Amino acid sequence: MTTVANPRQAEAWNGPFGAHWATHHERYDTLVSGVNDALFAGAAIEAGDRVLDVGCGAGATTRIAARLAAHGHAVGVDISAPLLDRARALTAAEGVANVAYECADAQVHRFPPAGYDVAISRGGVMFFGNHAAAFRNLARALRPGGRLAFVCPRQAGPDSEEVQAFELFGKLLGEPDTDTAAAQIAMASLSDPTRIREVLQRYTDYEKVAVEPVAVETVWGRDAADAVDFLLSRRTGTPVAADTRAALEDSLRPYETERGVRLRGAVWLVTATRPGARRQ
Ligand SMILES: C[S@@+](CC[C@H](N)C(=O)[O-])C[C@H]1O[C@@H](n2cnc3c(N)ncnc32)[C@H](O)[C@@H]1O
Repeated sequence: MTTVANPRQAEAWNGPFGAHWATHHERYDTLVSGVNDALFAGAAIEAGDRVLDVGCGAGATTRIAARLAAHGHAVGVDISAPLLDRARALTAAEGVANVAYECADAQVHRFPPAGYDVAISRGGVMFFGNHAAAFRNLARALRPGGRLAFVCPRQAGPDSEEVQAFELFGKLLGEPDTDTAAAQIAMASLSDPTRIREVLQRYTDYEKVAVEPVAVETVWGRDAADAVDFLLSRRTGTPVAADTRAALEDSLRPYETERGVRLRGAVWLVTATRPGARRQ
């Protein structure tokens, strides 16, 4: 990997935490795929575009972008070697030819200047220790007039289904391990829209910045038992007692539907443009 400016995140995403994401890539993709329509509507990828997918993980959105950019190409950049191994294997298995991946810290990686028409991210831009530096770096990677489109979590209030559904998990299971905690803290770093605008407009010079709320449903498992299996698989340490497990399942039962355990949540869709497009 090239220079790393975020060693704590590099450690988490290359350790057991990142390995869990790689092993359960399908589950994580299903969990958040409800945001895809909004993300790709915001990105407005055209057939000849060169697309950069920031924090691409196992590359689900990189491959969608590559299919949309049928005469162009998509590059996924991520700090996690295990997730990129999975991305490359899935890309080969799906036979998508116009895709490449790079293992790098997107905050400081030397992208080809003006090398991309569009930069997208599904939840991969919150982990930068220095957001302003990172978004300036991404702006340099975009051609003048190039587009940025990403989704990131919105702050959840006490009425949020996700907060309510997982309250008991916190109470019964205690604090998460340090890598999970580091990722969770970073995950919330752009949840305030004022902060997003400050980073993109004041500290960087993107134009046409729009921060729109998007309602989504996150999908946690086929049923409550399956969702609890997945959530417990993220923990290390001693197995939980049978009565604890049963209580956790009961807490998710109200959210079971015919299409799995679904929780209503919300994300921000952020779109912006790198200044300097030539006038037609
Ligand atoms: C929440 S996951 C989202 C993955 C993927 N976009 C998806 O939707 O499945 C965040 C991703 O950002 C990556 N990441 C974290 N910090 C990064 C950095 N500084 N540079 C590049 N990628 C980073 C992680 O390795 C991880 O794959």
